Amino acid sequence: MPTHPAPHKTALITGASSGIGKALARHFAQDGYQLILAARSVARMQALADELQREFKVTVIVMGADLETSDGAAKLHAGIQARGIVLSALVNNAGYGSYGEFKDSALAPALAMMQLNMNTVVVLTRLFLPDLLATRGKILNTASTAAFQPGPCMAVYCATKSFVLSFSEAIACELEGTGVTVTALCPGPTASGFQDKAELGQSALVKGRHLPTSQQVAALGYRAMQRGQRVYIPGFVNWAMAQSMRFTPRNLATRVVKTLMKPVA
Ligand SMILES: NC(=O)c1ccc[n+]([C@@H]2O[C@H](COP(=O)([O-])OP(=O)(O)OC[C@H]3O[C@@H](n4cnc5c(N)ncnc54)[C@H](OP(=O)(O)O)[C@@H]3O)[C@@H](O)[C@H]2O)c1
Repeated sequence: MPTHPAPHKTALITGASSGIGKALARHFAQDGYQLILAARSVARMQALADELQREFKVTVIVMGADLETSDGAAKLHAGIQARGIVLSALVNNAGYGSYGEFKDSALAPALAMMQLNMNTVVVLTRLFLPDLLATRGKILNTASTAAFQPGPCMAVYCATKSFVLSFSEAIACELEGTGVTVTALCPGPTASGFQDKAELGQSALVKGRHLPTSQQVAALGYRAMQRGQRVYIPGFVNWAMAQSMRFTPRNLATRVVKTLMKPVA
C-alpha cells in the first residue's frame, strides 16, 4: 500500500498508462520524484507503479481518471488535494487524435477529444498553479508538431495542439520570474498507442516510416523540461519542418500537410 509521498517533489503525469507518458514516468522516478499516475487503464499503471517503486524506491500512486469527461480533471485535483499532496511538477500529456475528413466525422467524439486535449489541460494547470507557485515547480504540456500548421484529415486534433502550444507559451511568459517553468513538448510522429487510436495506419504520415520510440521522445522532453525550455521539438527534421512552416504561405503549408496525411495504398 503506497504511503503519502514527501511533499517536496511530487509529479502528476496524465496519460501515464502508455506511450510517452509512461516513458516520462520513468525519468521522474529516476530523479527521485514521487509520482501520481493518471489515466483510465488502472491495471497498466499499477504494473508500471510496481516496477518503478521496486527499481527507484519512490512512492507511486495510481489514480484512475477519465479526463475527457467534463468533471474528470476537477475530480482528479480534488482526489490529490484530499491526500494532502502538493505538486512540484504537472505533466499534461493525456491526449489522442482522430484521422479522417471532418465532414465524415461524428461530433460527440470530436468534442470529447477537445475536452481531453484542451479543457483538461487548462483545468489542471489552473487548479494546480498554487501548488506549482509554492514549489517553484515545472509544467510539461505535450503538444505536437501538429501545432504549427493546420492539419487536413486531422483538423480538430491539430487545432487542439495549436491551442496547447499557444496556451503554454503565453503562460510561460506570464510566469516569468515566479520560478515556475512551462515547456511545450512538440513531438512529430512517435511509436505509441497513438497511431492505432487515431486509425492513422494508412496515412502517408506514418505508413512505412521508421518512427522514434516513446522512450526517445520522453528522454528529450524530460531534459527540455528540466532546462525550462519553452518549446521543444524532438528531432532535426521535425524541428526544420516546424521552422519552415513559419515562412511558408498558410495555404501552401496546409496543402503540404494534406498531401502528407492522405491515405497511401
Ligand atoms: N505518438 C505520436 O505520434 C504523437 C505525436 C505528437 C504528440 N503526441 C501526443 O502525445 C501525448 C501522448 O500520446 P502517446 O503518443 O503516448 O499515445 P498513447 O500511447 O495512446 O497514450 C495516450 C495516453 O493518454 C491517455 N488517455 C487517453 N484518453 C484518456 C482519457 N479519456 N482520460 C485519461 N487519459 C486518457 C491514455 O490512457 P488510457 O487509455 O489508459 O486512459 C494513454 O495513457 C498525446 O497528447 C498525443 O496527442 C503524440
